[in-house]
Amino acid sequence: MEKITIIKWAAFVTATFLAILTIFVIPRLHREIPDVPGDDRHIKVSKLSECIPCHSESGVHPLPSGHVARGQCLYCHKMTDS
Ligand code: HEC
Ligand code: HEC
Repeated sequence: MEKITIIKWAAFVTATFLAILTIFVIPRLHREIPDVPGDDRHIKVSKLSECIPCHSESGVHPLPSGHVARGQCLYCHKMTDS
């Protein structure tokens, strides 16, 4: 009885760890991620939804092909602080 509880616990911890690794670490290992430039266009932006108009297909600077279309831009692209 005792032993099964420990095994279950260990399995849970391992599964959680692997899930975290898959979700957060692996996408970032994929390629070199450019920082968000610290220019006028970017420092004024406060909401992620504001990134889309400029970086969509029809915007001033479309995303490269194969790039994720949406999501947490700032999780991958760090704001340059200056
Ligand atoms: C007003 C339009 C505009 C908005 C809003 C905007 N960008 Fe940009 N972005 C640009 C332009 C134009 C470039 C390319 C020229 C440059 O470096 O400024 C660029 C370049 C970039 C780059 C590439 C840098 C590199 O080194 O290749 C990243 C990353 C980026 N933007 C992320 C973001 C994120 C994240 C947001 C939202 C927080 C955002 N941008 C909002 C216009 C915009
Ligand atoms: C999962 C991580 C991830 C997320 C989330 C992400 N990007 Fe990127 N982005 C990258 C990587 C990696 C690159 C390097 C270029 C490539 O795709 O090969 C990149 C490149 C770029 C570039 C550079 C294009 C160039 O010409 O150099 C821009 C602009 C950009 N991303 C904008 C955004 C915006 C806006 C969002 C939110 C809608 C966003 N990214 C969300 C990983 C991400």
